[in-house]
Amino acid sequence: MKDAIKRAIPEPVIAWARGVQADVKLRRETLRQMKRFRRNYARRGCTGVEQMRTRIIYFTHQIEKGLSHSDFRYGFGKGVLAQLAPLLVQLRKSEPGYAGDGVYRSALSALHEYRQRHEVADYDLGYMRQLFPLDLWQEIGAADGTYGGDIVIRAVDKADNASLPFSALSEARHSIREFTDEPVSVDDIMAAVRVAMRTPSVCNRQPTRVHITTDRDLIGRLLAVQGGFRGYPTPPALVLLTADTWAFMNQDERNEGFTDAGLFGMSLLLSLEERQLAACPLNTMLPMQRDDQTRSLLHLPDNELLVMYVAVGHFPEESKTCMSRRFEAEQIVTVH
Ligand SMILES: Cc1cc2nc3c(=O)[nH]c(=O)nc-3n(C[C@H](O)[C@H](O)[C@H](O)COP(=O)(O)O)c2cc1C
Repeated sequence: MKDAIKRAIPEPVIAWARGVQADVKLRRETLRQMKRFRRNYARRGCTGVEQMRTRIIYFTHQIEKGLSHSDFRYGFGKGVLAQLAPLLVQLRKSEPGYAGDGVYRSALSALHEYRQRHEVADYDLGYMRQLFPLDLWQEIGAADGTYGGDIVIRAVDKADNASLPFSALSEARHSIREFTDEPVSVDDIMAAVRVAMRTPSVCNRQPTRVHITTDRDLIGRLLAVQGGFRGYPTPPALVLLTADTWAFMNQDERNEGFTDAGLFGMSLLLSLEERQLAACPLNTMLPMQRDDQTRSLLHLPDNELLVMYVAVGHFPEESKTCMSRRFEAEQIVTVH
């Protein structure tokens, strides 16, 4: 009887009813996701150790970026230091094993390099000194300067990239933010995209879309909107990865495009590295207005979600980049 009724309902009616049900679920689940995020993220003023560590990593990264600029600017990062100092003081109070914490060590190492570079140049560090209590200031002075800060990348070291085993290629890849003036062709990038096409995706639905531009004026305008690449010369090429919502079938899949295009992004980064092309992934965490500006600059269709940029260029003979120290694997693994 029940089956007979089901068979009698025309497919458009079933599709409509399912659509209404999915819309209700989409709203409910998105709200739940929003609430979970709001309960947990590392907001300014947070007091949880993990959230404080997040903010310390973020500010350490800003210091590492400043240290690695070829056009080094003495006195950079005053606002960053002003946020980092109280976080470190607070972490020392809240985390008993702080001295062995890689996040703390990495921050101190970057601050050590910051301090040393300025002191060697006889630059007045009064603005920095006043932010730190004496014991922390002394610890920065005595810190291991090799645990954070910047590292040097040389183009010659990339010559054998095509024959490196995966682990070595992965170990040697770093984000490069300053490139030579040599152009990068769309063909060069296409060769890397073809390799990245082997990236798996949910049910093989392949939602990733790739937008490439080598138009410096357009790249400059896009990166001005992006905002996370300030102070660097315009790169010769820019790739935008998007996720096509047309590849998804119901509300449960709403975040899957970020996973699939994110995986594609990693394949692309390694594929570029293998071809001796330098690259830096760049976020597209844009507030609505800047999202709209980006969409209009690239004439993106409504169905595509911004996932990430990748700036691409050639390795300078020698350049500096952030050390970006990683956690130990044991720190992120839970065996159930
Ligand atoms: C999705 C994503 C977004 C990123 N956004 C930016 C950015 O906006 N600006 C920037 O300078 N670096 C950005 N990065 C680069 C990270 O800072 C870098 O990957 C991280 O510090 C690790 O360093 P590594 O890539 O050298 O291993 C981004 C990386 C990823 C994966």
